[in-house]
Amino acid sequence: MKVMLVFGTRPEAIKMCPLVNKLKKDKRFDVKVCVTGQHREMLDSVLEIFKIKPDYDLDIMAHGQTIVDISIKVLKGVDEIIKKENPDILLVHGDTSTTLNAAMAAFYNQVLVGHVEAGLRSNDIYSPYPEEFNRKLVGSFAEIHFAPTLGNFNNLLNEGVKKEKIYITGNTVIDALLEVIEEKYVFEDKELNEIDYENKKVILLTCHRRENWGMPMENIFEAVKEITDKNQDVEIIFPMHKNPRIRELANRVFNGNNKIHLIEPLDYKPFANLIAKVHLIMTDSGGIQEEAPALGKPVLVLRTETERPEAVIAGTVKIIGIEKENIVNETLKLLNSEKEYEKMSNAVNPYGDGKTCDLILDVLLKKLKK
Ligand code: UD1
Ligand code: UDP
Repeated sequence: MKVMLVFGTRPEAIKMCPLVNKLKKDKRFDVKVCVTGQHREMLDSVLEIFKIKPDYDLDIMAHGQTIVDISIKVLKGVDEIIKKENPDILLVHGDTSTTLNAAMAAFYNQVLVGHVEAGLRSNDIYSPYPEEFNRKLVGSFAEIHFAPTLGNFNNLLNEGVKKEKIYITGNTVIDALLEVIEEKYVFEDKELNEIDYENKKVILLTCHRRENWGMPMENIFEAVKEITDKNQDVEIIFPMHKNPRIRELANRVFNGNNKIHLIEPLDYKPFANLIAKVHLIMTDSGGIQEEAPALGKPVLVLRTETERPEAVIAGTVKIIGIEKENIVNETLKLLNSEKEYEKMSNAVNPYGDGKTCDLILDVLLKKLKK
């Protein structure tokens, strides 16, 4: 059975690499990996950690790329590879521009599409942007949907997807996480080792979403700065996304603040182990809302919605929006109240027990048996 996997950004790679390795170990599958290179350094570092050498690399990334730039290159590039390889199924992940356009290329070539991490919905087509649009579209024509949770399964049912096509599998992110977490992890980076995680309240910050570009992101950064002024115990670590728009803004707003460590994006292994060490996380990331609860770390979400309500219901994730005052108040409340903190720092794991890749393999064998 020939399975082709296409991915292109950091989070897709983190969540697809464990699946690639599982499939490659099983002789019943002929596995082809195509990366689009929508991200470059941030993708390559994940491929290195999981020791994956792609069969194809479209190498499309350009600085300042638009959604349309990415879409055109992915659609055309993946189309050519599908024509050459003629796979039985093409697997895509989640909701990026790589995801949607690779899936469309498969559909136009009448190749089945399997959607990993299917059924997440915010129910606002503009937020996250363009991810809600991308995943809805893929959900409307994929042949197999690997839904992480029952909630994701129900979202797809509500949109008219037949239940025989949906499988609840958990999320491969937990498979990935279990591969990289080490109990006594030591960072290669001296700056990270020297931070006093015991006596300081160290906050890990990440921020990259397109809908937050501009004023919302400036509000978020101003709020973070105010938090360091109002609580003397706080230190912030901000591994900055490679996007120059984000880096310029961060460098401008945080300039000269010695409580804020502006660092390069971390490789997945140090990043995951850093989650386990810090006091709490402020983020607009999707994947981190899945990882941090599994490691018992409270997450304050810098967005107006989430497509991951499971951890909110469990109490470890809280949406605090993009308004400066609210971000400051909510964060200080959590920093200053032991009771609040205890409530939010219970380890919960609505996203599976690290066996998601095995479940996906079982489904592929069952569905594609010739
Ligand atoms: C993309 C996805 C988003 C996902 C995010 C994960 C789309 C439209 N967006 O957003 O869904 O949540 O990835 O991080 O698919 N860059 C580098 N090196 C890298 C990566 C990025 O220099 O390794 C810079 C480039 O200048 C690039 C810019 O970042 O043009 C933006 O990258 P892009 O993939 O367009 O958007 P993201 O915001 O990363
Ligand atoms: N991550 C990483 N290094 C970093 C920041 C994040 O390895 O410096 C990982 C993180 O653990 C998670 C994924 O990248 O698995 C999330 O990616 P991102 O926030 O870029 O995208 P999203 O999940 O929001 O689509």
